[in-house]
Amino acid sequence: MKKGEVEMFKRHRKLRRNEVIRNLVKDVYVVKEDLIYPIFIEEGENIKSEIPSMPGIFRYSIDRISEELDELVKLGINSILLFGIPKNKDACATEAYNENGVIQNAIRFIKENYDNFLVICDICCCEYTNHGHCGILDENGYVRNDETLEVLAKIALSYAEAGADIVAPSDMMDGRVEKICEILAENNFENIPIMAYSVKYSSAFYGPFRDAADSAPQFGDRKSYQMNFQYSKDAIDEVAEDLRQGADIIIVKPAMAYLDVIKKVSDKFEVPIVAYSVSGEYSMVKAAAQNGWIDEMKIVIEQIYAMKRAGANAIITYYAKEVAKYLEK
Ligand code: PBG
Repeated sequence: MKKGEVEMFKRHRKLRRNEVIRNLVKDVYVVKEDLIYPIFIEEGENIKSEIPSMPGIFRYSIDRISEELDELVKLGINSILLFGIPKNKDACATEAYNENGVIQNAIRFIKENYDNFLVICDICCCEYTNHGHCGILDENGYVRNDETLEVLAKIALSYAEAGADIVAPSDMMDGRVEKICEILAENNFENIPIMAYSVKYSSAFYGPFRDAADSAPQFGDRKSYQMNFQYSKDAIDEVAEDLRQGADIIIVKPAMAYLDVIKKVSDKFEVPIVAYSVSGEYSMVKAAAQNGWIDEMKIVIEQIYAMKRAGANAIITYYAKEVAKYLEK
């Protein structure tokens, strides 16, 4: 090709020549403020127990939770998502709305001792039912939708009364956002945002979480309420409906295998979107890293960027602390 002639192909490599130009054109960013760290709180005393399938992640009792919270303060992580593991479970998840339940006490402890945390509370029945399903069962073991809504509303109200900043229903019952908004408004908690798990697939990626939260279903699976990953048409509809019912922030879950869904939802709706990088995503990377097969932090950071690039505003990740440390460098 002679000088001055138009080239037949585009030289994409021009913008990759050195780090300064790569950073100049960079348009995807990850900051600490994007990170939400899940915490498992177990009823009892003096508990700090590592979850076997999630090395580096622990269950804490309230009397030791400061060990975790102090570290988060140091790292500048302010958003936490709480999961509770109660001593007593029953068929109707009554412990979930006990005003002295593990989460209610944890919220009060955090609010009394720290002023930086945004306390987000997962709302579901599965950690509190003896059968491990996310709602109330009928005689055939089918989760009854409308009966479960009453329980979810009670849980939301009791978390709000304890001082939760955000409630995050993860049960996948139809109509729960409306029911929760209603009960919060009736009790003067209309300013508490709803972070809805609007798009939550029935997924094997939740396996390690069920060890962590002791919430595996004792029979059957969650396919009659969580979404079917072999069907692509209901994701938009789930989000539209939750927004109509009053959701303020939308969660898509899991993250890595569902980037297409994050993208689709973020293209369609002008609302904050949170990607939940779930337990199985954490455990897979951890296991490979422990075997020396991958560069752990490079993999994690690349994944976080992928979620942001797909349109996530914030990310729930068990790697939040490591990511915060990495970003400090
Ligand atoms: C409760 C809930 C689950 C997760 C978040 N909330 C488990 C499930 O639906 O079985 C999964 C989180 C994870 O895997 O990290 N319903």
